[in-house]
Amino acid sequence: MDKLVVKGPSRIEGEVTISKAKNAYLPILAGAILAEDEVIFSEVPNLRDIRTMNNLLTHLGTVIEEKKAGEFSYFLNELKTHEAPYDLVKTMRASICVLGPLLARFKKARVSLPGGCAIGTRPIDLHLKNLEKMGAEITIEGGYVEAKTDRLKGAHLTLDFPSVGATENLMMAATLANGTTVIENAALEPEVTDLGHFLQRMGAKIEGLDSKTITIHGVEKLNGCHFTAIGDRIEAATYIISGLMTNSQIKVKGFNPIHLDAVIEKLEQMGAKLERGEDFVEVFPSKIVGGEIDTAPYPGFPTDVQAQMVALATQAEGTSIITEHIFENRFMHVPELQRMGANITIKGNSAIVKGGASLKGAPVMCTDLRASAALVLAGFCAEGETHVQRVYHLDRGYEKIGEKFAGLGATIERVKE
Ligand code: EPZ
Repeated sequence: MDKLVVKGPSRIEGEVTISKAKNAYLPILAGAILAEDEVIFSEVPNLRDIRTMNNLLTHLGTVIEEKKAGEFSYFLNELKTHEAPYDLVKTMRASICVLGPLLARFKKARVSLPGGCAIGTRPIDLHLKNLEKMGAEITIEGGYVEAKTDRLKGAHLTLDFPSVGATENLMMAATLANGTTVIENAALEPEVTDLGHFLQRMGAKIEGLDSKTITIHGVEKLNGCHFTAIGDRIEAATYIISGLMTNSQIKVKGFNPIHLDAVIEKLEQMGAKLERGEDFVEVFPSKIVGGEIDTAPYPGFPTDVQAQMVALATQAEGTSIITEHIFENRFMHVPELQRMGANITIKGNSAIVKGGASLKGAPVMCTDLRASAALVLAGFCAEGETHVQRVYHLDRGYEKIGEKFAGLGATIERVKE
């Protein structure tokens, strides 16, 4: 297993270009199952989760060819199997997004239950009960979801919670259903909208994208197309916060700042000097003061930026209160930051962070993807070397993180454990 050796304190400067969004491409690649002919994707990020999704799609029978760097064709003519096996699904719960497309086009699916993960139990009840409302017969046997249908039918669905994955699975399932499906209380995340745009490009009839009520009129078939996903707003937020933590001037390009409205507003409230452009945010040296952050579904403050905000808060002036409302166990970065000298107290689902901590480099352990990013950010502020171990967590969602930060002048090196 590799580790990242981060030397601090680091000043960083220059420009960094963000990759295309992992959380857009993962459901979109699953959506390629729906197409009767070839789909071409450009600028697919080289991430561990993308490779896992590709392994799963290949297992199902999809032929994936690299046309040129970052550009891939996906073609699923007929299924080799309708089973998404545990050994693939357990490493990435987003695999559950093949369920809707398999049911819609092939009328059957056998998908391993994803199981929990580090940040919480993460059930899929909202996916399953709403697919049943669309006419799927679903049983749970031996840790697998067994689903079949003669043909999915349109239904009026209301999500108890605006689940990103459930909205995506149900939207994909509805594209080939018989009749019209309405999804009420749909998730508004930009990645959901991007999936909707991809499905429309393939010929799906969808109204209400970017709203809490999405209407999908089923069609007979979907065709191939060429698509490129949006820039990764969570990766962008991570680099923006790295600039603020090191009192640097950096330009973060290749994403839509509107997708980070809540984050940018909160950072500016805390004293950040940021300039927004069409497809970039420029960060200027700023004096950051503590703030109150509550994670929420989009357009609220994203849970995927919570860990990075805790890291920033350790350096802010004054106290911050950061409360996690989406997942039940998303503070694994806290004990690791405390080992570096951070002054953080957990009270229920809140982290109370006393700012102005002088952090010391230390060997730290990655747990979930975003917690790992927070440790790298803290390493830039710490005195000495921070050895960030089990970097495979980072490789899931941050393309070339070592090279990108080194390109900004940070002292960061990937070494074999
Ligand atoms: C997506 O996960 C993202 N993953 C997550 O990013 C992100 O944190 C999350 O949305 C929230 O924004 C991908 O897009 C691949 P949810 P997802 O369904 O779809 C509960 C990262 O770091 N819930 O909106 O799993 C669930 O337990 C990852 O890139 C149910 O109770 O999120 C959680 O508490 C981490 N029943 C809440 O809803 C269900 O059937 C949000 O889950 C589904 C969800």
